[in-house]
Amino acid sequence: MPKTIAFHLQKGGVGKTTISGTLACQSALDGFRTLAIDCDPQGNLSSWFLKNTPEYELADVLQGRCFSKDAIVAIPDVENLFILPTFGIGGTLKNYSETKLAEEPFIIQDLVKELSEDFDRVILDLSPGLGRLERSALIASDEIITPMTPEVFSLDGLEIFIDELQRLKKNMRSQVKHTRIIINSYDERIRQHRDIYSAAEASGRFHVYRIPVDPLFRKAQEASKAPQLYKVRGRGLKAATVEAIQQLDRDIWM
Ligand SMILES: Nc1ncnc2c1ncn2[C@@H]1O[C@H](COP(=O)(O)OP(=O)(O)OP(=O)(O)O)[C@@H](O)[C@H]1O
Ligand SMILES: [Mg+2]
Repeated sequence: MPKTIAFHLQKGGVGKTTISGTLACQSALDGFRTLAIDCDPQGNLSSWFLKNTPEYELADVLQGRCFSKDAIVAIPDVENLFILPTFGIGGTLKNYSETKLAEEPFIIQDLVKELSEDFDRVILDLSPGLGRLERSALIASDEIITPMTPEVFSLDGLEIFIDELQRLKKNMRSQVKHTRIIINSYDERIRQHRDIYSAAEASGRFHVYRIPVDPLFRKAQEASKAPQLYKVRGRGLKAATVEAIQQLDRDIWM
């Protein structure tokens, strides 16, 4: 069975899409057939990797308008990387999640199971919040990894998420694992960042990772590229960023 990972916190702008996309690229570059499913109605992951709007999207698959294989797109620049996209414009996934999804909360879980025959690894990119769509995607995963930014209220946000997740797992009889957090956009020179990292570590509840602040992520996204393969004036990701991504990649698929 392939492993399915969702990167999630209910808060917006913490790096869910950046980390999902970057780790999907890393897995594909390592030679694993990797599928990234864009479960976010904003479609940010899809607009990062796809220059043209494909014919079908995730919402079409969920509504039985096409087969999953018709909607999955191979990313030409990154061998072994595939995306099941969502178009931000049009709002089909949003409409579906506000209407029919209520009757079929396990539909994403069933889809992931079906796709497991064709892929080694699956990554889900979710929108912020904890509505029906995010819940369906979370219970479709084997593991949830929480990215957060090193800000004042970030640990409060994590507590809220832990609480909500506990309830969701109980209600949906889910065994999904939640043992890792990532402090994203980390800057060692900033005391508050160091303090938040130390507090997260001291709680002893999570394996805590750090991804440095690195402007190359945004530049690679603007250029529709994998961050690992993109360079601006001969410069790619910082060495510390590459190391952080590789460490995560080694740990999370085991
Ligand atoms: N480590 C990093 N260093 C610098 N910039 C980063 C880093 N991680 C993410 N970013 C930038 O921060 C912004 C928000 O990141 P991203 O879109 O991944 O967050 P998100 O959690 O998916 O947001 P949303 O909740 O809207 O889906 C993007 O412009 C991205 O390029
Ligand atoms: Mg996002």
